[in-house]
Amino acid sequence: MSIVNGNEIFAAARKGHYAVGAFNINNLEWTRSILAAAQETNTPILVQTSMGAGKYMGGYELCLNLVQQTVKSMGITVPVIMHLDHGNYEAAKECIEVGYTSVMFDGHDLPFEENLEKTKEIVALAHAKNISVEAEVGSIGGEEDGIIGEGELADVEEAKKIAATGVDYLACGIGNIHGKYPANWKGLHFDRLKELAAEISTPLVLHGGSGIPKEQIQKAISLGVSKVNVNTECQLAFADATRKYIEAGKDLEGKGYDPRKLLAPGAQAITDVVKERIDWFGTPSVK
Ligand code: G3H
Ligand code: ZN
Repeated sequence: MSIVNGNEIFAAARKGHYAVGAFNINNLEWTRSILAAAQETNTPILVQTSMGAGKYMGGYELCLNLVQQTVKSMGITVPVIMHLDHGNYEAAKECIEVGYTSVMFDGHDLPFEENLEKTKEIVALAHAKNISVEAEVGSIGGEEDGIIGEGELADVEEAKKIAATGVDYLACGIGNIHGKYPANWKGLHFDRLKELAAEISTPLVLHGGSGIPKEQIQKAISLGVSKVNVNTECQLAFADATRKYIEAGKDLEGKGYDPRKLLAPGAQAITDVVKERIDWFGTPSVK
């Protein structure tokens, strides 16, 4: 299966009241681990690079080639969407040029009218090449790759205007936060989600998917969330498994320091997290 855009997959998810997971990659191990989870569960998946990860890995073209070649070499048969996560205007344009199949233009920190105008421009450029577009209304709390959001509820009227640009999925702030949730977090604002979903048929996106209790995620999906972004959870699982390997002294046994051995428990831990989330999201198998 070649890399596809997200249009049909997420429209079907919104209709079918399930979600498809979007997982961030950082390197070869992350890419292989996430693709393995999708293949083992026989479900579609969205693989995404933040701007920071794109820079870290050596540029968007390299990221796209990495995913394309890994899909090929692993014999992945499920649909894979290659997405830019939280891109600014320039990054979104670059990823459209390079050949990503989906881009997020995150204009939440711009004055609303500018967010709207730039979203329109990105939609026109992307749709001319059959590339999907995600936009954002109302910031997601917390920090990701230097992008800091205060966390605010999306305004329904603004969300309707952004949805009317023809975006293929829409990220809306509903009390969700990037990174670890603070102990005093009040939970997702389901009333606002209901209002948004009643007015907007575009698949909705829940960012900050790490650390939200399963019941809240599933309720959000039942109300119209079709894409759930998960990053921190995979990072924590990788770090934890790697720490355990080193603390058990396994890197000092034989050739346990070989990166192919040293990174294996962390890589497996990412696959396990992704498989668990796919189960939570109710993503159906590909026929
Ligand atoms: O865009 C990526 C996500 O919203 C990930 O958030 O790191 O809290 O899972 P997370
Ligand atoms: Zn996010």
